[in-house]
Amino acid sequence: MVSYKELGLVNTREMFAKAIEGGYAVPAFNFNNMEQMQAIIQACVEASSPVILQVSAGARKYANQTLLRYMAQGAVEYAKELGKNIPITLHLDHGNSFELCKSCIDMGFSSVMIDGSSLPYDENVALTRKVVEYAHQFDVTVEGELGVLAGVEDEVASEVAHYTKPEDVEDFVKKTGVDSLAISIGTSHGANKFKPEQCTRNADGILVPPELRFDILEEIEKRIPGFPIVLHGSSSVPQEYVKIINTHGGALKDAVGIPEEQLRKAAKSAVCKINIDSDGRLAMTAAVRKIFVDSPAEFDPRKYLGPARDELKKLYIHKCESVLGSAGKA
Ligand code: G3H
Ligand code: 13P
Ligand code: ZN
Repeated sequence: MVSYKELGLVNTREMFAKAIEGGYAVPAFNFNNMEQMQAIIQACVEASSPVILQVSAGARKYANQTLLRYMAQGAVEYAKELGKNIPITLHLDHGNSFELCKSCIDMGFSSVMIDGSSLPYDENVALTRKVVEYAHQFDVTVEGELGVLAGVEDEVASEVAHYTKPEDVEDFVKKTGVDSLAISIGTSHGANKFKPEQCTRNADGILVPPELRFDILEEIEKRIPGFPIVLHGSSSVPQEYVKIINTHGGALKDAVGIPEEQLRKAAKSAVCKINIDSDGRLAMTAAVRKIFVDSPAEFDPRKYLGPARDELKKLYIHKCESVLGSAGKA
């Protein structure tokens, strides 16, 4: 049993309280490898932002949970070495069982998500409650979810989004004791968040998605005032990356994300954690594809992963400074 406190990590309680008070959101960036972790820490130290390092089920399979945990421990030391002791949380993204959440808590994670959103309501309550009871013994914070995002979530594919029902949130929060709640108001995972027929096209032919359901968010806030809300699926799918990818051998079709102004608006509300993964994937892929085309003789991985890491860092600084408002809050 390893306590996250010995590793220098923090849970999300104080982070979220400050974010709600300050009208900003803490970035939750997924990581699977060293370059992503370096980019996240370099960016958040430079922007002086608190940060949540997220480990998904896919990341555990790809990189191994133990290695990722040691990397997060290393991230704390790395941030100090770079000159700023920023608050860092190690969070399990989309935990799908009590056993998985327990295993992460026991090995040093400071926060877990139990995603029972695809279960019937009462089963979601019971599973979430069980995780909260275990986690709180060790001062580990828990994120629950109500409502289902469209797309692939937790390896469960849903064709349509089931928006969170505001009338459920108070009961869910009270019965489960969760520390934060992920909701469904129109975001979804991946780089194709909306079907072209759901969007309009602007003068340049770029797809413009429908607005997020801020009315649902407001209704939820009214029912659980000041309670930390989480937005998953919040990548904006920058079209400049899509263009670089597609002009350098890629084939991304109809990729569209959540406009940054809408995320800025959400961050000023009770939304205090915003999850971003796909944008990082696009940034790295764009950088790597460009180098492969422009410098075909290059075969030292540092020569393409290094620039990919730099692009990622630039993207994350932009998110902290101009989208989430978390810069300067560490
Ligand atoms: O919630 C989805 C995240 O983007 C993680 O994706 O399961 O492919 O690692 P992944
Ligand atoms: P994106 O696919 O929009 O980056 O969402 C990531 C996410 O929600 C991770 O849990
Ligand atoms: Zn998610």
